[in-house]
Amino acid sequence: NSVDSGNFTWSAPSNIALVKYWGKREPQIPANPSISFTLNKCKTITTLSFERKRHGGFSFDLLFEGQPKESFKPKILKFFERIESYLPFLTDFHFTIDTRNTFPHSSGIASSASGMAALSMTLMSVERLLNPEMTDDFFYQKASFLARLGSGSACRSIKGNLVVWGEHEDIPQSSDLFGVEFPFEAHEVFQNYRDTILIVEEGQKSVSSTVGHDLMNGNPFSEARFAQARTNLTRLKQILIDGDLKSFVALVESEALSLHAVMLTSNPYYILMKPNTLAIIEKIRKFRSDTNVPICFTLDAGANVHVLYPDEYKGVIKTFIDGVLSLFCEGGKYIEDKIGNGSELL
Ligand code: PMV
Repeated sequence: NSVDSGNFTWSAPSNIALVKYWGKREPQIPANPSISFTLNKCKTITTLSFERKRHGGFSFDLLFEGQPKESFKPKILKFFERIESYLPFLTDFHFTIDTRNTFPHSSGIASSASGMAALSMTLMSVERLLNPEMTDDFFYQKASFLARLGSGSACRSIKGNLVVWGEHEDIPQSSDLFGVEFPFEAHEVFQNYRDTILIVEEGQKSVSSTVGHDLMNGNPFSEARFAQARTNLTRLKQILIDGDLKSFVALVESEALSLHAVMLTSNPYYILMKPNTLAIIEKIRKFRSDTNVPICFTLDAGANVHVLYPDEYKGVIKTFIDGVLSLFCEGGKYIEDKIGNGSELL
């Protein structure tokens, strides 16, 4: 093939799970199916430059915000090793990976999903350059497949605004190997749905998700948890179609607490909520019962709180966040995001 050098730039967003993925087996196969909202503003932007080289083996430089970042290299090397058999060109080129996030590095927002998704898109662009006959569907599906091998939840950051990962009898075409767009029409209330991320704690989280997933193997509640996630996905499917916000709120909050419940019951256990996380949860419950506004919270494997609500309530909720919830945030910080559509070629 005559391709010698070039570059591609893609952005890919973070995502927030409604039904959570927690627990996996090799090779990065989820113990239960999950579904997430794709975000819009919290993104990674990655430029992959490539130049043909003579000798085999992996060769790449890594830049983060324009500066060499040695500490990210082992993770990328491991990713390359995992995907080499699916992308044989990896040893034919020298790569420069130049990456940055649109959210602050210290915000406590995990960049593994958006980062692995953006890198996978750039790699698939090279793959398509070398194999121009591939269809768009194949292109996105394989990108999601690769992203999954980088970080499981990254496969839900490729394409679409509601993405399911993991085989489930009620979701046609769903797969353990890649994410698929929610194959039903979601109710219009979920268009422009908002996610305001309250920064309770900046900086690194105290448990790696790899360790967390592994601990599900010895957890006495794991089978019940996997069954609960499956049932919740069946229920959430109908809720998303019907626009039943009362049920949405109940299910999404319960999912977040179940995720933290299995962390609390792992051995060793870990407590990732902070006192301010709990304070915020209490304030949200009270606000909801006082006003009937269908606001709810969800959590990732960390202390920050994602506040989810329909677009039409953004005014009153902004007042509530500024006046009450932001007082529990580190430096008063929060990020206003909303549902988005996935990766973009720049
Ligand atoms: O993709 P990982 O291995 O970092 O796992 C992330 C899992 C959660 O964010 C806690 C839940 C989810 O489904 O995104």
